[in-house]
Amino acid sequence: MSSPAAATQQRDVKEALLFECAWEVANKVGGIYTVIKTKVPVTVSEYGDRYTLIGPLSYKTAPMEVEAQEPTDPGVKATIDSMRSRGVKILYGRWLIEGAPRVLLFDTGSAYGFLDEWKGDLWNLAGIPTPPNDHETNETIVFGYLVAWFLGEFVSHNLDKAVIAHFHEWQAGLAIPLCRKRHIDVTTVFTTHATLLGRYLCAGSVDFYNNLQYFDVDHEAGKRGIYHRYCIERSAAHCADVFTTVSHITAYESEHLLKRKPDGVLPNGLNVVKFQAMHEFQNLHATSKAKIHEFVRGHFYGHYDFDLDNTLYMFTAGRYEYRNKGVDMFIESLARLNYKLQKSGSTMTVIAFIIMPASTHSYTIEALKGQAVMKQLRDTVTDIQTRIGERLFEHASRYSGEPGSEFPSLSELLSDQDKVLLKRRIFALKRNSLPPITTHNMADDSNDPILNQVRRVQLFNGHHDRVKIVFHPDFLNSNNPILGLDYEEFVRGCHLGVFPSYYEPWGYTPAECTVMGVPSITTNLSGFGSFMQDLIEEPQDEGCYIVDRRMQSIEESVNQLTDYMFSFTNKTRRQRINQRNRVERLSPLLDWKNLGIEYSKARQLALRRAYPDAFAGEEFADSEGEYEMGMGIGFERPSAYSTPGSPRFRQGMATPGDIGTLTEEMQALQTSDYRGQPWNVSKEDEDEGYPFPLV
Ligand code: UDP
Ligand code: G6P
Ligand code: GLC
Repeated sequence: MSSPAAATQQRDVKEALLFECAWEVANKVGGIYTVIKTKVPVTVSEYGDRYTLIGPLSYKTAPMEVEAQEPTDPGVKATIDSMRSRGVKILYGRWLIEGAPRVLLFDTGSAYGFLDEWKGDLWNLAGIPTPPNDHETNETIVFGYLVAWFLGEFVSHNLDKAVIAHFHEWQAGLAIPLCRKRHIDVTTVFTTHATLLGRYLCAGSVDFYNNLQYFDVDHEAGKRGIYHRYCIERSAAHCADVFTTVSHITAYESEHLLKRKPDGVLPNGLNVVKFQAMHEFQNLHATSKAKIHEFVRGHFYGHYDFDLDNTLYMFTAGRYEYRNKGVDMFIESLARLNYKLQKSGSTMTVIAFIIMPASTHSYTIEALKGQAVMKQLRDTVTDIQTRIGERLFEHASRYSGEPGSEFPSLSELLSDQDKVLLKRRIFALKRNSLPPITTHNMADDSNDPILNQVRRVQLFNGHHDRVKIVFHPDFLNSNNPILGLDYEEFVRGCHLGVFPSYYEPWGYTPAECTVMGVPSITTNLSGFGSFMQDLIEEPQDEGCYIVDRRMQSIEESVNQLTDYMFSFTNKTRRQRINQRNRVERLSPLLDWKNLGIEYSKARQLALRRAYPDAFAGEEFADSEGEYEMGMGIGFERPSAYSTPGSPRFRQGMATPGDIGTLTEEMQALQTSDYRGQPWNVSKEDEDEGYPFPLV
């Protein structure tokens, strides 16, 4: 698969340049932003200034994220100047994150004048049709053509070094077929973080995994109006020198839906920050939890009849994909958990947060009022407390030796005026309605799938409910007036993350819980869940619960999730502290310092495929070379002061490198060889619907 031009150029492959291109460079949408951003430090340490990220220029976020600079590389400068002279607006500079990499951001809006010409070219070149009013596709086309323009012109200025262009997801992938058709002398890697069809099919109500082999992909894409997008994605996968994805489950999906077997799996890592002291993250849990307590007192005012010391915070979070993210299963299981807690006479209260951005018209008056009345009460109590202190001091300082006069009476301490003030604040806490489920006015309240499911299971935050629900239909931010915490702070303050996804190529949210020392529940249909299941013998003993959504019925999965949550409510504080320590000790498994090597291997393979002559006589990966897998990437597992034993890792899989699979061997795998359990394809299951309605 070498680029044809490669034969004529003697580019230096040892000092190759790397351009990494994604729609989420300095532009946060979902998990791909996390991949790119957290991976920067390890990539910079390998490539230094030979590394540049390419993304779209968002005027909303870029000024906060990027510091503009002039390029120093003459090839980059000449190319940018030439593109600017044709009207393209470009921001070049440093992305202000750890590692401070170079970034090149294209303002797609400044190049819409070329759109029709480029659409015609795409049709002639690749036979990809494009409808007129699909904004996302138009953006993809303009961005793809700008990137290909840049790379083409850049390699004509810079003839000495090999260039690797790494693209993430279909929205950034259009430049790949363009590079190939135009014979641009770069080698390309395409990493997909999902497939378009997979996401669409799963969001409907098909039995996705049992039918993967049988979908008529063109027909299914056409039916959903995404045929043109699908063509772009598929051509990126096929034209790339190296094609990879983030998990085995998505490799399996890609093989069937994109019709190319990935060359390997590049699991997602995180930038794991270790604290000096082991107990530091436990302290952070306590301080963050106190902030969530503040919110809860306000939100539940008038019905704050439960004990915060016996309250557990569970949550789910992510983009609002109701079925794919398993919110349907979460709410159903919460209803069953509520019943079990009531029946068992438990003294525990569970508050379940759902953090998923939806269309809203700002906060509800009730939600704002709850925080306001609680704040007024606290202010009033603080004032009274100061006055009481002064009176107490005054009284004590006047002590003349008369027996029995040491302490003032209550009426002396608490004046009538204070009492009136306090009463007024207390009366303000009276409320006729139940504490609301949602903090915001929903744009479409009556059709919202989450609210409808909550209505169906009747979890209305009543007095007898042991499980209460708070739906915050927006991402978190410390400047919010209601739940004023950053996402990370919020996660730290919670006790359990619950992510029962049905479609989840990786799933950063439970991975982030793990490195913050927060136990989580995920499924074996998520890339992360399968990854942990492959590495750890008894993941649930380490606080990494995995619901089986492959081999059992939905009813059984719901019950398993309920049981996990119920047994969690039975843990003592000591056991929860221990479990947090155990979870946190798994973080090295998810550290880019260990997983980054899979990316290095993908780049090496791309160079080898494009410039085989430059590697004559050298072997790739699985030999004894520097890319040997599973060896030499040892990681430390510090033992926690309160934790007995160590996690038992699966035999022969002691390092993350063992799970990375980028080798030429991957190509020889049969579908059934993908890691993880096999698929359950009994006829019974094929016919099985949801035992609870999908709303
Ligand atoms: N996230 C966030 N704020 C929130 C909730 C989630 O920044 O209030 C982030 C979270 O940290 C994670 C990302 O959103 O990195 C979601 O990534 P994931 O891979 O779980 O799902 P995706 O959205 O990519 O499908
Ligand atoms: C951390 C703190 C402890 C606190 C505990 C609460 O471990 O260091 O001081 O008691 O959190 O744990 P819990 O699971 O009840 O929130
Ligand atoms: C996609 C997937 C998610 C994954 C993320 C990063 O958005 O939906 O599961 O974690 O990409 O790879």
